[in-house]
Amino acid sequence: MTDTLEPTAADATTFAARGAAEIVAELTLEEQAALTSGASFWTTQAVERAGIPAIVLTDGPHGVRLQKGSADHLGIGDSVPATCFPPAVALGSTFDPELLERVGRALGEEARAEGVGVLLGPGINIKRSPLCGRNFEYLSEDPIVSGVLGSALVTGLQSQGVGASLKHFAANNQEHDRMSASSDVDPRPLREIYLRGFQRVVEDAQPWTVMCSYNRLNGVYTSEDPWLLTSVLREEWGFEGLVVSDWGAVNDRVVGLPAGLDLEMPSNDGRSAAKLVAAVADGSLDAQALELGARRVVELVQKAVAGARSSSVEPVETYDADAHHALAREAAGRGAVLLKNDDAILPLAAETRVAVIGEFARTPRYQGAGSSLINPTRLDNALDAVIEVAGAERVSFAPGFMIDGSDAAGLVEPAVTAAADADVVLLFLGLPGSYESEGFDRENLRLPVEQLALLDAVVAANANVVVVLAGGGVVELPFADDVPAILEGWLGGQAGGSAIADVLYGAVNPSGRLAETIPLRLEDTPAFLEFPGEFGHVRYGEGLFVGYRWYDARDAAVRYPFGHGLSYTTFEYSGLEVEAAGPGGPGSGLVVRVTVTNAGSRAGREVVQVYTGRTASAVQRAPRELKGFASVELAAGESREVEITVRREDLAYWDLRVDRWIVEGGEYTVEVGSSSRDVRLSATAEVAGDTVRLPLSLGSSIAEVAADPIAGPIVMQAMGSFAAGMADTDIFDADGLEKMMASFPIGKLAGFPGVPVTPDQIQQLLDAANGADGAR
Ligand code: BGC
Repeated sequence: MTDTLEPTAADATTFAARGAAEIVAELTLEEQAALTSGASFWTTQAVERAGIPAIVLTDGPHGVRLQKGSADHLGIGDSVPATCFPPAVALGSTFDPELLERVGRALGEEARAEGVGVLLGPGINIKRSPLCGRNFEYLSEDPIVSGVLGSALVTGLQSQGVGASLKHFAANNQEHDRMSASSDVDPRPLREIYLRGFQRVVEDAQPWTVMCSYNRLNGVYTSEDPWLLTSVLREEWGFEGLVVSDWGAVNDRVVGLPAGLDLEMPSNDGRSAAKLVAAVADGSLDAQALELGARRVVELVQKAVAGARSSSVEPVETYDADAHHALAREAAGRGAVLLKNDDAILPLAAETRVAVIGEFARTPRYQGAGSSLINPTRLDNALDAVIEVAGAERVSFAPGFMIDGSDAAGLVEPAVTAAADADVVLLFLGLPGSYESEGFDRENLRLPVEQLALLDAVVAANANVVVVLAGGGVVELPFADDVPAILEGWLGGQAGGSAIADVLYGAVNPSGRLAETIPLRLEDTPAFLEFPGEFGHVRYGEGLFVGYRWYDARDAAVRYPFGHGLSYTTFEYSGLEVEAAGPGGPGSGLVVRVTVTNAGSRAGREVVQVYTGRTASAVQRAPRELKGFASVELAAGESREVEITVRREDLAYWDLRVDRWIVEGGEYTVEVGSSSRDVRLSATAEVAGDTVRLPLSLGSSIAEVAADPIAGPIVMQAMGSFAAGMADTDIFDADGLEKMMASFPIGKLAGFPGVPVTPDQIQQLLDAANGADGAR
């Protein structure tokens, strides 16, 4: 344990038990201000005379990156060894909250053992474009996947008395110009895509902290946006924790604090504290805002102190590194996605003679660069793991390429010779570390040319090629039709190498699914024309149509769809039943039941996915949207009824007219399947809608007035005589007339030939309609 969390047990108990407001009220203004900034890169400020200790916050998300001694923030400096679990890109592909909760618990144990109070993760930003250099740290292109899995990680971590930091709030979907670019997002996509996952995690798991992002959102720095940090996060969602800045994200501290940014990190040598004190003194900052920020810091420290000594979990001074390595291996195996497996070339029999080709088999890429860089407790590679299963006599190896792209030509020939001599080639390709990182975006989605050239040469020598991919994001796969099998291993963490061998040889039956679409080409991707923006603004012009929503709406071909992933067994679906849960109104969503059967001869795991859609909707919608999923393990031949609940709030769209969530009433299509493009069964369900009553005005359209129970019949009657008059003119047929008049503002009817009403009469009618319902 570090000494930051080491007040004596008696002191700690007294401190943790006292009211935070009372503690803060006893502090001077200067002490309160000091508390709202860090004391160093990774610690909060202690106030010794008041018994307030400092706590450590550190990265995160997929391991504990605790720097001792000189801290340098960007991960170049050494950190203590810790288990490097698979980064979010692989965890997202498990689609399994139970597994992620276990990973969260293990992260919590390690953090506790190192005296860390808050681990800076998970990151749940939406993968808007596959080019984002930091996609490896994010879970999905879908908000439900991000929200459900993010909640599981937070719950697991916090069960150990260690806080999470949900990041980066919000709309931080690119690295280019990340410290200042404005993400310009319309209200519906903002709520339905970019904030929905955050809302879910806050409401379900109450992270101790939320980390604001670097960027601006619709022109306002998120670090000083009262709408985002207070109205939405606290008042709407009920967030009870503390908001911390991303490291260095503060623009104007005096504006940020009352907006809801409680803690600025890292330290800036007291400059912000001095500004806050001066602002209180000159009246530009309310002293209560400062007190509130300081109180939230004290509350966080109290939680961390109590968590470090919690009796609800076993006291942990160390952790079982072997068990955590095994868990990292399990998670990496579960995150690997079998994209293609023609003629069941996989799993391999141990007797198969294999040529392992590609430097990545020997020198794995297993995590991304930047603040999340973990110093692993050990590191497996796939080559050793394959040799362990098959025996050295059946395995040949050729590097094929250098990871930095040098020496391209010379290495191909030995690889071709090895390939020609083997039964099956395991070809390890992937993105070099220099292609993707925190801090910059990728330029394209291509694998390096020398790797593609190697592939061509190897395939010419032996057609039985299994491509194993490494990387933190999707790549174009122009060779997909030329090889029988492709296994996407992502960045697998420290045990990723052995996890790949587990899948290749069948010790693990693959069940990973794509949490992001693999497009045919970069040019097909939804944000292609509007990424990364220009002159400090990036317009999210694709709106709601992010990821699979875009390809489905355009009926466009993709390389592999969202939710896709093969198994060594097959699953059959039957008996779909959909029930509205409850009589309507709050709390009632859909309960979906389906029987899944493992129809093959080997145990396996299926990720059952539930999508909804509406054929006729008053608002723009994607054809299908994921609303629930379950990862189910089934023995060979086993059948099980799987129940998935679709929450009512997940059926809602953000209604611009009333600025709130609305569930549209009517018939919903419910599709259940194995991927977004492998729908096995579908049904319909009737959902009771929420009522939206808007006051009618002279500007309301005739269709809007016609829909009103009071004004509607009167207007319809008037329109009937008008239509009869028009019928003589031969200008419109009845249908055309109705369509044209539907959008006609009712106030403009007054004085129209053939419509003998005055503006006053129309207004009276509208007043009667508006007054008839107090809800208006
Ligand atoms: C990153 C955060 C990270 C923080 C602390 C920032 O640059 O954006 O994700 O937690 O640094 O290292």
